[in-house]
Amino acid sequence: SSDLNMSEPTQLLYINSKEIFNMADYKIVLLKGDGIGSEIVNQAVKVLDKASEKFNFTVEYDEALLGGCAIDATGVPLPDETVAKCKAADSVLLGAVGGPKWDNQPGNNRPEAGLLGIRGALGLFANLRPAVIFEPLKKASPIKDEIIGGSLDIMIVRELTGGIYFGKRGRTEVDGQPAAWDTEQYSVPEVERIARVAFDLAMKRNKKLTSVDKANVLESSRLWRETVTRISKEYPEVELNYMYVDNCAMQLVRNPGQFDVIVTSNIFGDILSDEASMISGSIGMLASASLSESKSGLYEPIHGSAPDIAGLGIANPLATILSVAMMLRYSLDQPKAADAIEAAVTKVLENNRTPDIYEEGTNKVTCEQMGDLVCEAL
Ligand code: IPM
Ligand code: MG
Repeated sequence: SSDLNMSEPTQLLYINSKEIFNMADYKIVLLKGDGIGSEIVNQAVKVLDKASEKFNFTVEYDEALLGGCAIDATGVPLPDETVAKCKAADSVLLGAVGGPKWDNQPGNNRPEAGLLGIRGALGLFANLRPAVIFEPLKKASPIKDEIIGGSLDIMIVRELTGGIYFGKRGRTEVDGQPAAWDTEQYSVPEVERIARVAFDLAMKRNKKLTSVDKANVLESSRLWRETVTRISKEYPEVELNYMYVDNCAMQLVRNPGQFDVIVTSNIFGDILSDEASMISGSIGMLASASLSESKSGLYEPIHGSAPDIAGLGIANPLATILSVAMMLRYSLDQPKAADAIEAAVTKVLENNRTPDIYEEGTNKVTCEQMGDLVCEAL
């Protein structure tokens, strides 16, 4: 209608209603979790606030319980209220869950069950785990310089809501002895959608995709491979190769430079992403994004809750800060803010280190100081 063409009044109405309702541009739910979770999330929030000032957007936060803290408060690791809050948010930032305190919980009520539960409830089927080397940290990598070559930039795309993590499992008896079983199952649509995410990412990068499976043994892997091959026809520009998971584990330390994007199942991705993270020097550095069909995602460092150093103020907040950068890029359409945070982190690393990545000749800083330094560099 003609009313809608009068851009000025529409614009005014928009600004006024935002002010009247005090609406922020983005609503973020924080799941601080357990152990070092709250320390690292607090630093990441500081950095996000700083980025919002600099790039002119507003963020509103809400908190919800997940993991051990949720068990303590409500009896379950994933309360319904947490799912509802996350569903209504523009994005979710997670610290870490778990700790020895809850090790005696039954399997389906452990903190980790809360993490798997929220992945399932939000349909977060695509987990992006970049393994990159930050130039100032090159010496921290246990892999020799000549093997790493110029740089390392691998994107692991892990299927996150299927496979053996979500398959049927149980206890039984074999020959009168107690036994247990888990099942690995993938449907064609599950493989198709994760393959498309990986091919799309490869198109934006170096157009190389490695699909990792165990097709010499597992039927689910044979279906995975057939499906990826079929989807590859939609992406003629991407060079696709296949690798068995055992070979891939070996190739990651023999010649990591051969990889661009890796796509693999839930359990293989869990294992390979920890391995790839260490090539980059410290598991305390790597971020991840978990994405669904919708735009909002869940962002978390790939490391755990580190109960041994919780409360000491020495945790490395950079993986969580870099997760915020991924959130800005993939969910909030603020790519410039994402780039700026990543650049600030690289700059700060030249002279400042938390204990996990400390090197002689640099300043040893606390979790909070690291957060402040990134804000200053921003
Ligand atoms: C990860 C973690 C989780 C997983 C655990 C905590 C359940 O290792 O995010 O990689 O296995 O997915
Ligand atoms: Mg893992």
